[in-house]
Amino acid sequence: MTMAAYRMCMRRRGSLPRLLLCRAPLVWLAAAVSIAAVGIPAACVAAGPTPTISADNVPHLGRRLTPDEAATAGTTIFPDGRGLPAGSGTAVRGKAIFEQQCAHCHGAGGRGGSAQELVGGTAPLTSARPDKTIGLYWPYAATLFDFNWRAMPMDKPGSLSADDAYAVTAYLLFAEGLVSESQTLDARSLPAVKMPNRNGFRGIDVTVPR
Ligand code: HEC
Repeated sequence: MTMAAYRMCMRRRGSLPRLLLCRAPLVWLAAAVSIAAVGIPAACVAAGPTPTISADNVPHLGRRLTPDEAATAGTTIFPDGRGLPAGSGTAVRGKAIFEQQCAHCHGAGGRGGSAQELVGGTAPLTSARPDKTIGLYWPYAATLFDFNWRAMPMDKPGSLSADDAYAVTAYLLFAEGLVSESQTLDARSLPAVKMPNRNGFRGIDVTVPR
């Protein structure tokens, strides 16, 4: 309300309506400015005591983990293979899984899809436009397994069984020429696969919990 309009308003109204109708906008403006100045804590204080959290007043986002999900969610798989689950797989089986569940994003054979290219890169990580394909970007096969098992397929993460995750990891390693098509990968043999760019990363000195 401009000053001219405010004066006009005061002239036209009696005393009580004058106060409510002419000053109210100014009072609200002042309140809004002070809340904005003090920020969210002031708004929270003004809202009164924090309500008790119960099933009725929380936002209904997400859902409870199933026992299976809870069992794998806290699993850490280390580069040396500690934490790898029981199970096994070969590239032959992994090829079928890849074609069904991965190729629509990563392309046939892990090349040329809309998502990250997984196989066949040649530009090293030290180049201006590095290829982050498996042979260049993953120093340890066990962590590649962990990523596939935990995060892929991106539209259904966590849905691969341990056997399927071993198989699809074997397929990707086979596609990069690092294992044979029939080699069985499991908790013992997978960490023994030597990734070609293992020494292309700078180590950081952290204490790994046992
Ligand atoms: C809906 C699309 C989609 C599907 C399906 C999918 N991915 Fe991915 N994937 C992505 C995207 C996008 C990225 C890049 C994510 C990022 O950089 O954070 C990615 C990243 C990856 C990477 C890491 C690449 C790298 O070197 O950084 C691997 C390995 C991978 N996916 C494997 C798989 C496997 C195995 C499957 C099937 C079981 C699969 N993906 C299915 C979209 C998908």
